Amino acid sequence: MDDEVKANLIDKIFFKKYRCIEYIAEGSFSLIVKVEYNNQYYAMKLEDIRKKHNLLSNEASMMIFLKGPNIPYITIYGSSGGFNLLTMQLLGNNLQTMFEREGSFSLKTVCLLAFQMLSVIEHIHNKGVIHRDIKPENFVLGKEPESNPKYLYLIDFGLSKFFDKNSFNDIITNKKNLTGTPRYASINAQRGLEQSMRDDLESIGYVLIYFLKGKLPWMGINDRDQIQKNKKICVRKIETSSSDLCYGLPKEFVEYFDYCKNLEFEQKPDYSMLKELFMKILKTEKERFDYVYDWNEVEKNKIKKYNHLDFYCRSDELGENNINQTGDNRPIVVQGMDYSEMLDKIENDINNKNKKDKKEKENEEKKSKFCCIF
Ligand SMILES: Nc1ncnc2c1ncn2[C@@H]1O[C@H](COP(=O)(O)OP(=O)(O)O)[C@@H](O)[C@H]1O
Ligand SMILES: [Mg+2]
Repeated sequence: MDDEVKANLIDKIFFKKYRCIEYIAEGSFSLIVKVEYNNQYYAMKLEDIRKKHNLLSNEASMMIFLKGPNIPYITIYGSSGGFNLLTMQLLGNNLQTMFEREGSFSLKTVCLLAFQMLSVIEHIHNKGVIHRDIKPENFVLGKEPESNPKYLYLIDFGLSKFFDKNSFNDIITNKKNLTGTPRYASINAQRGLEQSMRDDLESIGYVLIYFLKGKLPWMGINDRDQIQKNKKICVRKIETSSSDLCYGLPKEFVEYFDYCKNLEFEQKPDYSMLKELFMKILKTEKERFDYVYDWNEVEKNKIKKYNHLDFYCRSDELGENNINQTGDNRPIVVQGMDYSEMLDKIENDINNKNKKDKKEKENEEKKSKFCCIF
């Protein structure tokens, strides 16, 4: 948003009652400010009415529809002073800010967050909505006195939509723009496939690994061309197996990814089973689900066990013939490989496999029909 527009916002009154008192954050298409009315504080999301992207009206209707715990409530949506405005419950810091403060999160904190992320995503999926932009910035902690700092909230429903089981496209459209954020997007979303519940869950998995290890294998990949960059990130995601990605972490993380990546487009995930994985880790670690996060600990000498762990797969920083963390010299992808070619090849393989699976399924069906007649 233009600096001049921003400079004039403080003390401005919207809807004849909400006075803008300070900036909170600036997103890609919007600005978030703190507003006051009747000694109560709220967050207000503003979108310039002249901008062609109008995500705020979709966001407002989604939030009203999704109303529930761990989603901020809305007090008003409308237009005033040249902006579309959404006023909602005031919350605290987002998880990216907390992560930058802490450097990385402990296993306990990640389990506490994972459980809540899965609960809130289950709530929205049960209402038939998929979020499509899961990332640390879109999970926000509560803030006293307006909300409870123990609890995690999901925000930013601008890209959310109703899951449509008839919209599955098995043709890979690389030209289609990615909906979401490349770092955390699922492999299928990056390949241009229509998203469903499984994609939100895969993204949650990437967020958790990022919190524990402080990085993801595709961070640092660059290209001047955004489409090429996305392709390279996608190839790296495809190359990185669940066990490579979760190397050194409790086995439940591999189970999480294996489960999410094997979900069918329409399949309803087993959220209880996934939440149970994180409860199991807590139990093994002899920790309790007490909402005491790293940032609530009085002594700051908590050991973050995983933040220096690397991944098994080759990263750009590793040279050829580099020996990975365990000292075992697993084959590393050849450097300098043409990513587009590689992506095309992987996609061809996947398409051929899909065709083969389809044919096998049809044959099976034919066989079973035949059996029925007899
Ligand atoms: N209700 C809220 N209370 C406090 N901070 C918020 C609230 N909503 C958003 N924010 C802050 O503003 C940032 C951007 O908001 P978001 O809705 O994600 O905008 P964008 O769509 O531009 O990404 C968030 O990451 C969070 O830090
Ligand atoms: Mg956001």
